[in-house]
Amino acid sequence: MRTIVWNDDKQVMEMIDQRLLPQEFIINAYDNHKDIADAIRSMVVRGAPAIGAAAAFGMALAALNAKASNTEAMLVELKGAGEVLNQARPTAVNLAWAVKRMLKSAETFEGSVKDLREHLLDEAKTIADEDVATNKRMAEFGAALIDDGDHIVHHCNTGALATVDWGTALGVIHMAHEQGKRVHVFVDETRPRLQGARLTAWELEQYGIPYDIITDNSSGYLMRKGMVQKVIFGADRVAANGDVANKIGSYMVALAAYDNGIPAYSAFPISTVDFDLARGELIPIEERTEDEVLDLTLMGQKVAPQTASARNFAFDVTPFRLISAWITEKGVIYPPFDKNLRIAMKG
Ligand code: MRU
Repeated sequence: MRTIVWNDDKQVMEMIDQRLLPQEFIINAYDNHKDIADAIRSMVVRGAPAIGAAAAFGMALAALNAKASNTEAMLVELKGAGEVLNQARPTAVNLAWAVKRMLKSAETFEGSVKDLREHLLDEAKTIADEDVATNKRMAEFGAALIDDGDHIVHHCNTGALATVDWGTALGVIHMAHEQGKRVHVFVDETRPRLQGARLTAWELEQYGIPYDIITDNSSGYLMRKGMVQKVIFGADRVAANGDVANKIGSYMVALAAYDNGIPAYSAFPISTVDFDLARGELIPIEERTEDEVLDLTLMGQKVAPQTASARNFAFDVTPFRLISAWITEKGVIYPPFDKNLRIAMKG
Protein backbone atom coordinates (compact mmCIF):
# COMPACT_ATOMS: atom_id res chain seq x y z
CA MET A 1 0.00 0.00 0.00
CA ARG A 2 1.50 3.33 -1.04
CA THR A 3 0.30 6.34 0.94
CA ILE A 4 1.58 8.77 -1.69
CA VAL A 5 1.55 8.06 -5.43
CA TRP A 6 2.44 10.19 -8.44
CA ASN A 7 -0.08 9.82 -11.26
CA ASP A 8 1.86 10.36 -14.50
CA ASP A 9 -1.22 10.45 -16.74
CA LYS A 10 -3.00 13.13 -14.73
CA GLN A 11 0.18 14.87 -13.47
CA VAL A 12 -1.17 14.90 -9.92
CA MET A 13 -0.05 13.53 -6.57
CA GLU A 14 -2.54 11.16 -4.98
CA MET A 15 -2.76 10.55 -1.24
CA ILE A 16 -4.96 8.51 1.06
CA ASP A 17 -7.07 10.88 3.17
CA GLN A 18 -5.95 9.71 6.62
CA ARG A 19 -8.55 11.82 8.42
CA LEU A 20 -11.28 9.47 7.27
CA LEU A 21 -9.68 6.11 8.04
CA PRO A 22 -10.68 3.51 9.06
CA GLN A 23 -14.31 4.30 8.17
CA GLU A 24 -13.63 5.48 4.62
CA PHE A 25 -10.80 4.83 2.19
CA ILE A 26 -10.67 7.90 -0.03
CA ILE A 27 -7.84 9.03 -2.28
CA ASN A 28 -7.42 12.77 -2.91
CA ALA A 29 -5.58 14.25 -5.89
CA TYR A 30 -3.34 17.35 -5.64
CA ASP A 31 -2.14 19.52 -8.50
CA ASN A 32 -0.44 22.38 -6.63
CA HIS A 33 1.84 22.98 -3.66
CA LYS A 34 -0.58 25.22 -1.73
CA ASP A 35 -3.18 22.48 -1.49
CA ILE A 36 -0.47 20.05 -0.43
CA ALA A 37 0.61 22.44 2.35
CA ASP A 38 -3.05 22.57 3.48
CA ALA A 39 -3.26 18.77 3.36
CA ILE A 40 -0.17 18.51 5.58
CA ARG A 41 -1.55 21.09 8.03
CA SER A 42 -4.97 19.46 8.25
CA MET A 43 -3.40 15.98 8.49
CA VAL A 44 -4.79 14.43 5.33
CA VAL A 45 -1.22 13.17 5.28
CA ARG A 46 0.81 12.87 8.47
CA GLY A 47 3.83 11.06 9.80
CA ALA A 48 7.31 12.55 9.38
CA PRO A 49 8.55 10.72 6.26
CA ALA A 50 5.14 10.92 4.55
CA ILE A 51 4.95 14.70 4.91
CA GLY A 52 8.53 14.92 3.62
CA ALA A 53 7.60 13.00 0.46
CA ALA A 54 4.38 15.00 0.03
CA ALA A 55 6.38 18.23 0.30
CA ALA A 56 8.83 16.95 -2.34
CA PHE A 57 5.94 16.42 -4.78
CA GLY A 58 4.66 19.86 -3.73
CA MET A 59 7.95 21.34 -4.93
CA ALA A 60 7.77 19.33 -8.16
CA LEU A 61 4.23 20.64 -8.74
CA ALA A 62 5.39 24.19 -8.00
CA ALA A 63 7.94 23.75 -10.80
CA LEU A 64 5.34 22.28 -13.17
CA ASN A 65 2.96 25.18 -12.47
CA ALA A 66 5.62 27.92 -12.45
CA LYS A 67 5.21 30.81 -14.89
CA ALA A 68 8.99 31.34 -15.04
CA SER A 69 10.63 31.34 -18.46
CA ASN A 70 14.22 31.00 -17.17
CA THR A 71 15.81 28.97 -14.38
CA GLU A 72 16.64 32.03 -12.20
CA ALA A 73 12.98 33.07 -12.14
CA MET A 74 12.02 29.45 -11.52
CA LEU A 75 14.31 29.32 -8.47
CA VAL A 76 12.58 32.38 -7.00
CA GLU A 77 9.18 30.69 -7.42
CA LEU A 78 10.50 27.46 -5.92
CA LYS A 79 11.87 29.24 -2.86
CA GLY A 80 8.45 30.80 -2.30
CA ALA A 81 6.79 27.39 -2.60
CA GLY A 82 9.34 25.94 -0.17
CA GLU A 83 8.40 28.59 2.41
CA VAL A 84 4.69 27.81 2.06
CA LEU A 85 5.35 24.08 2.52
CA ASN A 86 7.81 24.56 5.41
CA GLN A 87 5.21 26.53 7.34
CA ALA A 88 2.67 23.71 7.23
CA ARG A 89 3.97 21.88 10.31
CA PRO A 90 7.05 22.73 12.38
CA THR A 91 8.26 19.63 14.23
CA ALA A 92 8.98 16.86 11.70
CA VAL A 93 12.31 17.80 10.17
CA ASN A 94 11.68 15.55 7.15
CA LEU A 95 9.50 18.29 5.68
CA ALA A 96 12.26 20.93 5.72
CA TRP A 97 14.78 18.25 4.72
CA ALA A 98 12.79 17.35 1.59
CA VAL A 99 12.20 21.00 0.61
CA LYS A 100 15.92 21.73 1.07
CA ARG A 101 16.89 18.71 -1.02
CA MET A 102 14.51 19.73 -3.82
CA LEU A 103 15.84 23.31 -3.78
CA LYS A 104 19.43 22.13 -3.87
CA SER A 105 18.62 19.83 -6.74
CA ALA A 106 17.13 22.81 -8.62
CA GLU A 107 20.04 25.11 -7.80
CA THR A 108 22.69 22.69 -9.04
CA PHE A 109 20.76 21.74 -12.20
CA GLU A 110 22.08 22.90 -15.54
CA GLY A 111 19.63 22.93 -18.43
CA SER A 112 16.39 24.39 -19.70
CA VAL A 113 13.30 25.23 -17.64
CA LYS A 114 11.48 22.32 -19.27
CA ASP A 115 14.25 19.90 -18.30
CA LEU A 116 14.34 21.33 -14.76
CA ARG A 117 10.64 20.54 -14.38
CA GLU A 118 11.26 16.92 -15.32
CA HIS A 119 14.37 16.78 -13.18
CA LEU A 120 12.47 17.92 -10.07
CA LEU A 121 9.66 15.46 -10.65
CA ASP A 122 12.26 12.70 -10.92
CA GLU A 123 13.87 13.91 -7.70
CA ALA A 124 10.54 13.77 -5.84
CA LYS A 125 9.93 10.24 -7.16
CA THR A 126 13.44 9.30 -5.99
CA ILE A 127 12.75 10.69 -2.50
CA ALA A 128 9.56 8.61 -2.34
CA ASP A 129 11.26 5.44 -3.58
CA GLU A 130 14.23 5.92 -1.25
CA ASP A 131 11.86 6.20 1.69
CA VAL A 132 10.43 2.75 1.00
CA ALA A 133 13.88 1.17 0.57
CA THR A 134 15.18 2.89 3.72
CA ASN A 135 12.23 1.68 5.76
CA LYS A 136 12.72 -1.90 4.65
CA ARG A 137 16.40 -1.80 5.63
CA MET A 138 15.50 -0.26 8.97
CA ALA A 139 12.84 -2.92 9.51
CA GLU A 140 15.33 -5.71 8.91
CA PHE A 141 17.78 -4.28 11.44
CA GLY A 142 15.02 -3.64 13.96
CA ALA A 143 13.31 -7.03 13.58
CA ALA A 144 16.45 -8.67 14.95
CA LEU A 145 15.66 -6.98 18.30
CA ILE A 146 12.19 -8.54 18.49
CA ASP A 147 11.79 -11.96 20.09
CA ASP A 148 9.22 -14.61 19.35
CA GLY A 149 6.28 -14.07 21.72
CA ASP A 150 6.96 -10.38 22.41
CA HIS A 151 4.16 -8.07 23.48
CA ILE A 152 5.09 -4.62 22.19
CA VAL A 153 3.78 -1.20 23.17
CA HIS A 154 3.56 1.04 20.10
CA HIS A 155 2.73 4.75 20.14
CA CYS A 156 0.93 6.79 17.44
CA ASN A 157 1.03 5.51 13.85
CA THR A 158 4.39 4.77 12.31
CA GLY A 159 3.32 2.33 9.61
CA ALA A 160 2.95 2.54 5.85
CA LEU A 161 0.55 5.45 6.37
CA ALA A 162 3.18 7.53 8.16
CA THR A 163 5.68 6.98 5.35
CA VAL A 164 5.47 6.37 1.61
CA ASP A 165 5.22 2.66 2.37
CA TRP A 166 6.19 0.05 4.94
CA GLY A 167 6.74 2.33 7.92
CA THR A 168 9.35 2.88 10.61
CA ALA A 169 8.57 1.45 14.08
CA LEU A 170 5.50 -0.41 12.83
CA GLY A 171 7.59 -1.58 9.88
CA VAL A 172 9.94 -3.25 12.37
CA ILE A 173 7.00 -5.07 13.97
CA HIS A 174 5.62 -5.96 10.54
CA MET A 175 8.98 -7.40 9.47
CA ALA A 176 9.28 -9.48 12.67
CA HIS A 177 5.79 -10.84 11.94
CA GLU A 178 6.76 -11.63 8.31
CA GLN A 179 9.79 -13.48 9.64
CA GLY A 180 7.42 -15.77 11.52
CA LYS A 181 7.86 -14.31 15.00
CA ARG A 182 4.68 -14.31 17.04
CA VAL A 183 4.18 -10.72 18.13
CA HIS A 184 1.29 -8.92 19.77
CA VAL A 185 0.92 -5.15 19.82
CA PHE A 186 -0.53 -2.96 22.55
CA VAL A 187 -1.70 -0.02 20.47
CA ASP A 188 -1.71 3.30 22.35
CA GLU A 189 -4.84 5.02 21.14
CA THR A 190 -2.92 8.34 20.89
CA ARG A 191 -5.15 11.22 21.91
CA PRO A 192 -6.32 13.54 20.55
CA ARG A 193 -6.13 12.52 16.85
CA LEU A 194 -6.23 8.80 17.69
CA GLN A 195 -3.59 7.76 15.16
CA GLY A 196 -3.16 4.52 17.13
CA ALA A 197 -6.82 3.51 17.50
CA ARG A 198 -7.68 4.55 13.93
CA LEU A 199 -4.60 4.07 11.76
CA THR A 200 -2.27 1.61 13.52
CA ALA A 201 -5.17 -0.71 14.36
CA TRP A 202 -6.34 -0.50 10.72
CA GLU A 203 -2.88 -1.35 9.42
CA LEU A 204 -2.43 -4.25 11.88
CA GLU A 205 -5.73 -5.66 10.61
CA GLN A 206 -4.35 -5.65 7.05
CA TYR A 207 -1.15 -7.43 8.14
CA GLY A 208 -2.92 -9.98 10.35
CA ILE A 209 -0.90 -8.99 13.41
CA PRO A 210 -2.75 -9.48 16.71
CA TYR A 211 -3.27 -6.33 18.76
CA ASP A 212 -5.26 -4.67 21.49
CA ILE A 213 -5.94 -0.97 21.66
CA ILE A 214 -5.12 0.51 25.07
CA THR A 215 -5.83 3.96 26.44
CA ASP A 216 -2.82 6.27 26.54
CA ASN A 217 -2.58 6.03 30.30
CA SER A 218 -2.42 2.20 30.42
CA SER A 219 1.02 1.11 29.34
CA GLY A 220 2.76 1.80 32.67
CA TYR A 221 0.35 -0.53 34.43
CA LEU A 222 0.84 -3.27 31.82
CA MET A 223 4.60 -2.94 32.15
CA ARG A 224 4.41 -3.31 35.95
CA LYS A 225 2.34 -6.45 35.47
CA GLY A 226 5.04 -7.99 33.21
CA MET A 227 2.76 -7.89 30.16
CA VAL A 228 5.16 -5.92 27.93
CA GLN A 229 8.58 -6.93 26.60
CA LYS A 230 9.41 -4.05 24.26
CA VAL A 231 8.41 -0.45 23.54
CA ILE A 232 8.88 0.98 20.09
CA PHE A 233 7.97 4.32 18.57
CA GLY A 234 9.09 6.52 15.71
CA ALA A 235 10.53 10.03 15.62
CA ASP A 236 9.66 13.36 14.07
CA ARG A 237 12.99 14.99 14.77
CA VAL A 238 16.07 13.67 16.51
CA ALA A 239 18.61 16.09 17.97
CA ALA A 240 22.33 15.46 17.46
CA ASN A 241 22.64 14.10 21.02
CA GLY A 242 19.93 11.47 20.43
CA ASP A 243 16.95 13.20 22.10
CA VAL A 244 13.80 12.19 20.21
CA ALA A 245 10.79 14.40 19.47
CA ASN A 246 7.81 12.17 18.75
CA LYS A 247 4.05 12.11 19.23
CA ILE A 248 2.93 13.52 22.57
CA GLY A 249 2.97 10.77 25.18
CA SER A 250 6.11 9.04 23.92
CA TYR A 251 8.11 10.52 26.82
CA MET A 252 5.77 9.04 29.44
CA VAL A 253 5.86 5.63 27.75
CA ALA A 254 9.67 5.73 27.65
CA LEU A 255 9.79 6.77 31.32
CA ALA A 256 7.61 3.85 32.35
CA ALA A 257 9.71 1.47 30.24
CA TYR A 258 12.90 2.77 31.84
CA ASP A 259 11.47 2.33 35.34
CA ASN A 260 10.50 -1.25 34.51
CA GLY A 261 13.76 -2.24 32.79
CA ILE A 262 11.96 -2.70 29.45
CA PRO A 263 13.87 -1.73 26.28
CA ALA A 264 12.45 1.33 24.48
CA TYR A 265 13.49 1.81 20.86
CA SER A 266 12.99 4.72 18.49
CA ALA A 267 12.98 3.87 14.76
CA PHE A 268 13.62 6.55 12.12
CA PRO A 269 15.50 7.23 8.89
CA ILE A 270 18.70 9.29 9.16
CA SER A 271 16.82 12.12 7.38
CA THR A 272 14.96 12.59 10.69
CA VAL A 273 18.18 13.55 12.49
CA ASP A 274 18.64 17.31 12.72
CA PHE A 275 22.40 17.62 12.93
CA ASP A 276 22.04 21.39 13.47
CA LEU A 277 20.23 20.97 16.79
CA ALA A 278 22.43 19.98 19.71
CA ARG A 279 19.68 18.96 22.14
CA GLY A 280 16.01 18.07 22.22
CA GLU A 281 14.94 21.26 24.02
CA LEU A 282 15.78 23.17 20.84
CA ILE A 283 13.27 21.20 18.73
CA PRO A 284 10.21 23.33 17.81
CA ILE A 285 7.09 21.67 19.19
CA GLU A 286 3.83 22.16 17.34
CA GLU A 287 0.84 23.28 19.37
CA ARG A 288 -2.42 22.58 17.57
CA THR A 289 -5.86 24.06 18.10
CA GLU A 290 -7.82 23.25 21.27
CA ASP A 291 -10.86 21.91 19.40
CA GLU A 292 -8.93 18.67 18.74
CA VAL A 293 -8.97 18.09 22.51
CA LEU A 294 -12.32 19.62 23.38
CA ASP A 295 -14.46 18.06 20.65
CA LEU A 296 -14.51 14.69 22.42
CA THR A 297 -18.02 13.32 22.95
CA LEU A 298 -19.27 10.55 25.22
CA MET A 299 -22.77 9.11 24.91
CA GLY A 300 -23.55 11.81 22.37
CA GLN A 301 -22.56 14.62 24.75
CA LYS A 302 -19.57 16.90 24.65
CA VAL A 303 -17.31 15.84 27.54
CA ALA A 304 -15.76 19.14 28.60
CA PRO A 305 -17.74 22.13 29.94
CA GLN A 306 -18.81 24.51 27.14
CA THR A 307 -16.39 27.18 28.36
CA ALA A 308 -13.40 24.84 28.90
CA SER A 309 -10.07 25.70 27.33
CA ALA A 310 -7.32 23.23 26.42
CA ARG A 311 -3.66 23.03 25.43
CA ASN A 312 -2.78 20.70 22.59
CA PHE A 313 0.93 19.99 22.23
CA ALA A 314 1.38 17.56 19.36
CA PHE A 315 4.82 16.24 20.32
CA ASP A 316 7.13 15.78 23.27
CA VAL A 317 10.82 15.08 23.63
CA THR A 318 12.23 11.87 25.09
CA PRO A 319 15.73 12.43 26.48
CA PHE A 320 18.35 10.09 25.00
CA ARG A 321 19.05 8.49 28.40
CA LEU A 322 15.61 6.80 28.30
CA ILE A 323 16.18 5.23 24.87
CA SER A 324 17.84 1.80 24.71
CA ALA A 325 18.75 2.05 21.01
CA TRP A 326 17.89 3.94 17.83
CA ILE A 327 16.87 1.83 14.83
CA THR A 328 17.97 3.37 11.51
CA GLU A 329 18.70 2.25 7.96
CA LYS A 330 22.39 2.37 8.95
CA GLY A 331 21.78 -0.24 11.63
CA VAL A 332 20.83 -0.31 15.30
CA ILE A 333 22.70 2.47 17.10
CA TYR A 334 23.42 2.00 20.79
CA PRO A 335 24.41 4.77 23.20
CA PRO A 336 26.38 6.98 23.14
CA PHE A 337 24.26 8.05 20.19
CA ASP A 338 26.31 11.00 18.89
CA LYS A 339 29.54 8.99 18.72
CA ASN A 340 27.97 5.81 17.36
CA LEU A 341 25.85 7.70 14.83
CA ARG A 342 29.02 9.17 13.36
CA ILE A 343 30.53 5.68 13.15
CA ALA A 344 27.35 4.27 11.55
CA MET A 345 27.27 7.12 9.00
CA LYS A 346 30.80 6.26 7.86
CA GLY A 347 29.94 2.56 7.49
O1 MRU B 1 1.02 14.22 14.22
P1 MRU B 1 1.49 13.07 13.39
O2 MRU B 1 0.46 12.01 13.20
O3 MRU B 1 2.10 13.53 12.08
O4 MRU B 1 2.65 12.44 14.24
C1 MRU B 1 3.35 11.33 13.74
C2 MRU B 1 4.28 10.76 14.71
O5 MRU B 1 4.51 11.28 15.78
C3 MRU B 1 5.02 9.55 14.29
O6 MRU B 1 5.31 8.77 15.40
C4 MRU B 1 6.33 10.01 13.63
O7 MRU B 1 6.06 10.79 12.50
C5 MRU B 1 7.22 8.92 13.25
S1 MRU B 1 6.48 7.73 12.20
C6 MRU B 1 7.11 7.64 10.77
